[in-house]
Amino acid sequence: MNKTLLSFLVALVVAFPLCRLQAQTRDVDHQVDSVLQLMTLDEKVGQMNQYNGNWDATGPITETGDIQDQIRKGMVGSMLNVTGVEHTTELQKIAMQSRLKIPLLFGQDIIHGYRTTFPIPLAEAASWNMTAIEQSARIAATEAAAAGVHWTFAPMVDIARDPRWGRVMEGAGEDPFLGSRVAEARVRGFQGNGLGHTDAVMACAKHFAAYGAAIGGRDYNSVDMSLNTLWNIYLPPFRAAEQAGVATFMNSFNTLNGIPATGNAYLQTDVLKGRWKFTGFIVSDWNSVGEMIPHGYARDGYDASVKAANAGNDMDMESRSYILNLARAVRDGQVPVTRVDDAVRRILKKKFEMGLFDDPFRYSSRVREQQQWNRADHLAAERSMAEKSIVLLKNEHQLLPLSRDQLKGHTIALIGPFMKGIRDNLGFWSYTWPDDSSRIISPYEGIRRMAGPDVNVLYARGCNVDDSSLAGFGEALDAARKADIVIMDVGEAPDWSGEAKSRSNLHLPGMQEQLVRAISETGKPLIVMISAGRPLIFNWIADHVPAILYTWWLGTEAGDAMADVLFGKYNPSGKLPMTFPRSEGQIPIYYNHLNTGRPPKNDSDLNYVSSYIDLPNSPRYPFGFGLSYTTFSYSTISLSSDAIGPGDTLRARVTLTNTGSFDGTETVQLYIRDLVASIVQPVRVLRGFRQLLLKAGQQEIVTFSLTAADLGFYNDRLEYASEPGAFQLFIGNSSEDARQASFRLRP
Ligand code: BGC
Repeated sequence: MNKTLLSFLVALVVAFPLCRLQAQTRDVDHQVDSVLQLMTLDEKVGQMNQYNGNWDATGPITETGDIQDQIRKGMVGSMLNVTGVEHTTELQKIAMQSRLKIPLLFGQDIIHGYRTTFPIPLAEAASWNMTAIEQSARIAATEAAAAGVHWTFAPMVDIARDPRWGRVMEGAGEDPFLGSRVAEARVRGFQGNGLGHTDAVMACAKHFAAYGAAIGGRDYNSVDMSLNTLWNIYLPPFRAAEQAGVATFMNSFNTLNGIPATGNAYLQTDVLKGRWKFTGFIVSDWNSVGEMIPHGYARDGYDASVKAANAGNDMDMESRSYILNLARAVRDGQVPVTRVDDAVRRILKKKFEMGLFDDPFRYSSRVREQQQWNRADHLAAERSMAEKSIVLLKNEHQLLPLSRDQLKGHTIALIGPFMKGIRDNLGFWSYTWPDDSSRIISPYEGIRRMAGPDVNVLYARGCNVDDSSLAGFGEALDAARKADIVIMDVGEAPDWSGEAKSRSNLHLPGMQEQLVRAISETGKPLIVMISAGRPLIFNWIADHVPAILYTWWLGTEAGDAMADVLFGKYNPSGKLPMTFPRSEGQIPIYYNHLNTGRPPKNDSDLNYVSSYIDLPNSPRYPFGFGLSYTTFSYSTISLSSDAIGPGDTLRARVTLTNTGSFDGTETVQLYIRDLVASIVQPVRVLRGFRQLLLKAGQQEIVTFSLTAADLGFYNDRLEYASEPGAFQLFIGNSSEDARQASFRLRP
């Protein structure tokens, strides 16, 4: 061992316990530099290399090899999909046998819960409740960090305007403003009181950038968009995550205007690390460095590693391009060593901030891992999040909520392929749930328990999720005929939305819609719950079934949460975070569209206007829509002024009254429209929302404050600016609610 290394290691041993005590003042950059000085070029490249563990795979394995030997040689900086105290400890011990003993980072997709599985992120976004969303991420982090996980590949903050894209389930939907608030909440939740706390994990804003705009909604497809759309629609949630202190970013599989995001210097170096001054590191997506070869952007692995590294990608997930080529590329003068040093500095800095140099095993605690398993408070938070995520789409004649008292001595029929689903409600990205399914509450179980012993409950599956058999119809019809009320649970299977799960047909699969029609023809009062990972198309149900709940994939406590809503223990408050189309032909469909020069007056206006001749322009359900068991009335809007200057604040006020007979939560939404601008602005843009719980009959004044900064957009020089002129302002219960006022922004 050379002298410098020996003295450094002695210094490490002596210095780090002290540093722990002086955590506030320690100079991480200095420590990073001292480690960097000791590293060979191969060890530096090793830090930029991430492999998948052998326990799980979330993409195609590129190659197997002796990973453990490579860890021992300092050729691996991070592992993904290695989870649990036993496995993380085992590999970290091997890292401690390497020359410089640099600890490994363990990353994992903790997308909607680690053990306690929360609703899918799109469902959580439907709650519009940032406190609950933050809490969900906090619990996921606490459970994961106790099991040795340092880093989650979440939140996914991709805007999604195309429900064919399976990954809509992973994000917050179509709107940049809502998406930004959710991004911040989830980053705060994952990172808790800061990196280094043993209940916090590093968050990762992904997929940078524009992955959600894959052409045709087909996963991994190319993206082609103007810089105007990129900056105004797709980048804001990333910027919000960055400003909330997100530790890492992940780039994406797609090309953006012909350049793969992974090799895109504009996105990674100019925007993220340059203009936004992001100090964390960027990890590639799974094999996305290597995929620049089939994209037609790189000749081979060597060329791919040169292009990715020079563009600003710091860590290579699973493609082996860096480990096989990058050192040679540096020696050849193709990649400056300063670029490699910068990447390694960024990675080591996070390892220091996580406290891993102090104690590489600090997140792998058997005791904490045990304590986090099956915690009643976590399950209660999950149930509450699930209740808040449900959206009531229709409730004719106040069919809902059901009353236990009125149902005494009566019969309910529970029908549908998801009614007894156990793991279905976990949805995609829930593979960290162990094989034991006994803790999961099915809809059937939740409803039966809530109904209690005095209500007779019948069950029939009716049909499978996706085949053409009618064999179960008879039994289902029998059950419905014997019942006083029927509740059905239909939808798409949990692995029908998620990564690589794009669909071209968004209707309910198989015979499910026919089953609903057949049951509806019995004339029995019918409630339909739709379980899905994206907006589906179900026009017949929307037109004919009196009560509809959109229940997404709700997680471990789904059955209890559904029962809470059906029986009015929780009054539904969810609002759609995506526009629901009437037909696939309307896609992409989103509320914040431009007006065009020939906007139709209404859905039947076809006179040389921008419309389809065979489809209305209006969606089935608009963005922001969702009902309650109670009703809310909005007063007209009163503005503090009809004109504001650049330094002024405009106050917009409405009185909200709960006019129904239930206590209920309403999400009051504020939209604006800039009527004339240097770049044409959307017909409406969400700029604020407030959630209020009002008792039946209660009234409250809701005030929004807007400054010039809230009225701006990225102009053609990509500068954020507000332009003087006339604005409309809308306050209401969805993006289509019509109450409006006008004001001017003065120069
Ligand atoms: C996904 C990422 C994910 C990664 C690791 C990729 O296929 O696109 O979102 O974090 O795999 O599992």
